[in-house]
Amino acid sequence: MRSETEGDSVHLGRVLITRDEIETRVRELAQEISTDYAGTVPIFISLLKGGFIFLADLVRNLSIPHEIDFITVRSYGSGIERSERIEILNDLNRNVTGRDVIIIDDIVDTGHTLCALEQMLMERNVRSLRICALLDKPSCREVAIDVHYVGFRVPDVFVVGYGLDFMERYRSLAYIAELIPGSPKESGEVRETRAMDDEKEHGELQGPHHREKGTNARAQEKEKESGKA
Ligand code: IMP
Ligand code: MG
Repeated sequence: MRSETEGDSVHLGRVLITRDEIETRVRELAQEISTDYAGTVPIFISLLKGGFIFLADLVRNLSIPHEIDFITVRSYGSGIERSERIEILNDLNRNVTGRDVIIIDDIVDTGHTLCALEQMLMERNVRSLRICALLDKPSCREVAIDVHYVGFRVPDVFVVGYGLDFMERYRSLAYIAELIPGSPKESGEVRETRAMDDEKEHGELQGPHHREKGTNARAQEKEKESGKA
């Protein structure tokens, strides 16, 4: 019989996107943005905390002048109404009125957070607004949202690394990996050596139970943190 603790653990699974693939794609995105925004000085707004690593790598590959800023938001409520509103935990330092703004986010899942943020920034009368997300989970979308720049499309699995966390862990992995509920022994899957080595460093974490499709890691994380960072 499994103990509560064993049943609640998580571990790293497959590496979905390697460090090299991320590096190449981030460079491509930066070139595309540099071309699209030539002659302007856009403001890149990173959603904390998940977007900070992506922002750092992206802006270092830009060839146009630009500014950066950060915002921390939390969407609240549950069900359909869930993210009609967002609460700003830390607002921007810059005035964005009349500016070309690009939102930098780690992943677009349901789309609620970005949808609400987009609306909020439009009310501040920005000149233009586009979204750039490292990852997109289109199969999870609940609201229509135009994500102009997408790094990679990922399936409906919980992913960590390169800024994305599970309960504040795994953010610093240089690649994107799937997070699997249960201990490695239970699931018995074959994993990449690199992911296993990293897990030794990051440790096994207390986490979600299985659900029929994918993992409910995100729901559990949200419940615990009641926030989106
Ligand atoms: P949504 O698009 O409003 O559902 O929320 C997107 C946010 O949820 C992201 O910015 C992440 O912080 C978090 N999130 C969604 N899917 C994942 C995942 O697979 N791993 C880690 N965080 C996730
Ligand atoms: Mg998060």
